[in-house]
Amino acid sequence: MDDKTYTEKFVHLSSLVEEHLESAPGCHDFEHVTRVLQNSRLILERESGADVRIVELAALLHDIARPEELAANGAICHAEYGAKLAIPFLEKCGFTDTAMQKEISLCILRHRYRGQNRPETLNEKIVYDADKLDSIGAVGIGRAFHFAGRTGAKLHNTEKEALASEAYSSGDTAYREYLVKLRNVPGKMLTETGRSLAAIRASFMDDFFKALNTEVSGTR
Ligand SMILES: [Fe+2]
Ligand SMILES: [Fe+2]
Repeated sequence: MDDKTYTEKFVHLSSLVEEHLESAPGCHDFEHVTRVLQNSRLILERESGADVRIVELAALLHDIARPEELAANGAICHAEYGAKLAIPFLEKCGFTDTAMQKEISLCILRHRYRGQNRPETLNEKIVYDADKLDSIGAVGIGRAFHFAGRTGAKLHNTEKEALASEAYSSGDTAYREYLVKLRNVPGKMLTETGRSLAAIRASFMDDFFKALNTEVSGTR
């Protein structure tokens, strides 16, 4: 497989993924996929020993089954189903090597590591970290407000109110998402590069929510 052939196939696959995610909600749409791909390339530049093509293709396909998960109201796990659904997408674009397909499939299965399916190989860890990076920093703040707005939550609340609120309630603010999940993301990164990029993004995110609390309190 020469580079030109890979690039042509990649562009074809990219257009199929964009089409499949056309109706996906803003937090997990094709733009999210594009940013995860960029994050993967940032990590690939500094981590040696990874397979660039496996990582790029897995990043492109990692959330392919989001529409199916949404349609099933969460009864289908997009990582588990996506690991299977990715194969016909790869086949259609000429990525027919079964060993390669299997590695990509495992990256997709393990990108949503929550207790089980821990990423094991460097390729899997890079896709996982690239996805996590998109949930923090300036983009993470934007996504958190986007999600809160979509579900009808308030703009902001206090730490006490946020922590006493239920998911999907009016108190499920961007701040609650930060307190419950986002501030813990840097500690979950699996590569050295992922950790250093996450530290920069987390520091900006911490400053943002500190400033938001100060402004809302009326003291500045
Ligand atoms: Fe995902
Ligand atoms: Fe994702």
